Amino acid sequence: MSTLTIFDSVPAQASGETQVPAAASRPIPAVLGADLQVPVKGGRLVGYANLDYAASAPCLEPVSAAVAAALPAYSSVHRGAGYASQLTTARYEQARHTVRAFVGARPDDAVIFTRNTTDATNLLAGCLPAGTTTVVFDTEHHASLLPWRKSVRLAPPAFPGEAVRAADEALAGIEGPKLLVVTAASNVTGELWPIAALAHIAHRHGARILVDAAQLVPHRRLNLTALDLDYVAFSGHKLYAPFGAGVLIGRRDWLADGEPYLKGGGAVRSVEEEAEWHDDPEPRHEAGTPNVLGAIALAAACDALTATGWTALVREEERLLARLRSGLASIEGVRELSLWGDDHPRVGIVSFTVDGYSAREVAEALSSQYGIGVRDGKFCAHPFVRHLLGRSGHDREDAGCEDGTTSAVRASIGIGTTQEHVDRLVEALRDLVSR
Ligand SMILES: Cc1ncc(COP(=O)(O)O)c(C=O)c1O
Repeated sequence: MSTLTIFDSVPAQASGETQVPAAASRPIPAVLGADLQVPVKGGRLVGYANLDYAASAPCLEPVSAAVAAALPAYSSVHRGAGYASQLTTARYEQARHTVRAFVGARPDDAVIFTRNTTDATNLLAGCLPAGTTTVVFDTEHHASLLPWRKSVRLAPPAFPGEAVRAADEALAGIEGPKLLVVTAASNVTGELWPIAALAHIAHRHGARILVDAAQLVPHRRLNLTALDLDYVAFSGHKLYAPFGAGVLIGRRDWLADGEPYLKGGGAVRSVEEEAEWHDDPEPRHEAGTPNVLGAIALAAACDALTATGWTALVREEERLLARLRSGLASIEGVRELSLWGDDHPRVGIVSFTVDGYSAREVAEALSSQYGIGVRDGKFCAHPFVRHLLGRSGHDREDAGCEDGTTSAVRASIGIGTTQEHVDRLVEALRDLVSR
């Protein structure tokens, strides 16, 4: 039987103000499944080399511990007078404050829990003032490319300054409300986008900016206030918290005026003939029973990364990424995809093609012969991958899938990736191309 002591368990910060991130000092936390064994051809078991973090990252141990700690008192949120309900509600609201602090949001920004980044961009799309034009680059993930009713699409820019110039020109030509949508770190190349400069340009034209931070926040610190961003979206499952929650954070007014994302209990103040919807964006867009454990997990991941500190996390990632990229570059026939060149800063994501093999063949061979997990395809960024493959000799027949379209292989790293994983991938590819 579990015994609860409310004053031990109710988070001290449930009262509302933004928490100052804890001093960074702890060792890099472990991930669950670091010792996972997987079968390879011949029936042997080998340690799994998970190089598919950009799709979904493994669960951090402190995240799993936070969920386990919350489960015994798991109960309804915002509904019950019972002790467990109050405790679970406090934990849920504390998670909101933690996530707010994690991205350095303004005190009056809304923090709405969603299912994932796709859910968050769609939620915002439903709240845009009538007639809003969205400006979006063809380099975006489909989650940020597709939800908009009216959009202007910009070609992949040849260099970062061109992104700013193209956004400037496009926004200048638009009347009425406008929103610039941009991904902070590409899910295809890992390259970092000039989001501060783009925010500045957007605001000069009276536009707002939404930053898709799905691939940034697992790798770099983001400060929404310092960058002057209007909206930020990301997913828990890419941030070591695979419990089905994501988040949309940003300015309250559009969200308070927008159509409730889901209609039902929790989003209404009262219902007579007509429903009287909440004006506060959080209840307005979080109808029904929320994903409490997902929110707790997401907040625990934010806490764990903050407590470790970005310096240590970035240093280790950059060491492994440099080793991976130089290893790939040393293999004839392996070509990395890049929009802005080898030296442009990037997070731990690398996409490449292998001469003589389709991306699917490479990914299958890596899995079945070497116990390595990577992704192949166009990574839900079809226009961008097509653009990259169409340049520099990538669009050869032999880079094609069965369906005749071209695709690439993606390796992505994060907490829990080891040097052995990276070396195994490089050696496996060397092996493949030498056959
Ligand atoms: C940059 C980017 N944005 C959005 C998404 C969509 O995330 P989710 O599938 O969690 O909604 C992804 C997922 O790969 C992504 O990489």
